[in-house]
Amino acid sequence: MKIDNSSALFERAKAVLPSGYTRQMVVTKPHPLYVSHGEGCWITDVDGNRLIDWVNNFSAQIHGHAKAEIVEAITEQASSVQSTTMPSEWEVKLAELLVERIPSVDKVRFMNSGTEANIIAVKAARAYTGKSKIAKMEGGYHGQYDLLEASYQPMPDAWGNIGEPNSVAYHPGTPQSLLDEVVCLPLNNIDAARAILRSRASEIAAVILDPWRLQVGMVEPQQDFLEMLREETEKLGIILIFDEVWCLRFGYHGYQGATGITPDMTTMGKIIGGGQPIGALGGKDEFMSVFALGEDGVPLIKHSGTFTANPMSLAAGYTAMELMTRDAFDALDSTNDRLREGLEAIRVDCELPGVVQGSGSVSALIMTNIPITDYRTLAFAAASGLLEKLGVFEKALLQQGVMTLRGGFVGSTPMTNDDIDFTLNGYRKAIEAVDKTHPGLLRS
Ligand SMILES: Cc1ncc(COP(=O)(O)O)c(C=O)c1O
Repeated sequence: MKIDNSSALFERAKAVLPSGYTRQMVVTKPHPLYVSHGEGCWITDVDGNRLIDWVNNFSAQIHGHAKAEIVEAITEQASSVQSTTMPSEWEVKLAELLVERIPSVDKVRFMNSGTEANIIAVKAARAYTGKSKIAKMEGGYHGQYDLLEASYQPMPDAWGNIGEPNSVAYHPGTPQSLLDEVVCLPLNNIDAARAILRSRASEIAAVILDPWRLQVGMVEPQQDFLEMLREETEKLGIILIFDEVWCLRFGYHGYQGATGITPDMTTMGKIIGGGQPIGALGGKDEFMSVFALGEDGVPLIKHSGTFTANPMSLAAGYTAMELMTRDAFDALDSTNDRLREGLEAIRVDCELPGVVQGSGSVSALIMTNIPITDYRTLAFAAASGLLEKLGVFEKALLQQGVMTLRGGFVGSTPMTNDDIDFTLNGYRKAIEAVDKTHPGLLRS
């Protein structure tokens, strides 16, 4: 693979960006590949390498790249108004679409990222309940808000008792007073999580979780764990927030539609921006009333922002979401079913450990026999070689023209059966290549 032009750009980047990077999640050695252009599910770097894009900007590009309808909507909007203090019809249209589709959503506020949506959700829950603490899952990711980064990746020497996990700082310098505002829950441990909620209910404003998974390791919250959270939060006067920033891509009614569990508030982002920056908070009227103007004309939460509800993001987002009909979701899922079947066949043929995980448009072959059920088992598997394996394998796949998220797959609507065949063929070749360069690694 030719990388001269990317190498040259990285040399320039190192002079002006810390270590040459702006996003931690894209750090790769020796350096990242720099993008030239994309089309559909394919992306080409500045050296002319053409890769099938199974990352889709961490799930945001559900239609891949340069989707004609989205390009047209953005182009038209850019040649008219890019941002202004005046609201646009797009704002109403995208809000109407979300209210119609997502069960927990009666009203919507827009933001510019998933992180921001979670920040505002926390403020709203605090204002509504008058309580300050937020409960989150150990290992849960909700963006870059330092409060919700607590215990995102705690180490064994700090994480404490599984029955009552410590709230651990993600970054040095995080104030203890902030960590004290976070109550950590052990995912999928129904008895322990219930006991914590019951004993601290008078302090907890909200429970927030991604109902689909914990980190990229795809630890799924079990349905009975989600049901317990719904039941207890309702009884205890705690707001239940589903962070669907990633998992809204699981269906026409979001992930909550698939589980049949309706939270009080939902945070959204990624796919609802059609490739432009966006975030949104939706919820039942009762909870969203904190944003409504009071009799004195002042709301409890004064949420605003220079680029909030900018028409570029909303035009792209509405166009992208309107294209995601029920049929489009079904087609996307069935293409990805084919991928999962192919991965399973390869796993059996090549005698690899592990299981093919995932559903909808997200999949991975997790190459380990260590059962992963929560953050701690995931951390154990990662430290026992899984992380190294995924890193090596991701690079081998890239050499085959397959760009993945640590060997995992996030699909997009332009993908065809030919693209799946290309991917599976590349997967087999990557296994052969790793078997030569790192004998035994994939089977350890
Ligand atoms: C579940 C979840 N919540 C929040 C975020 C943060 O969203 P953003 O990167 O738009 O701030 C992400 C991003 O990956 C996410 O996966």
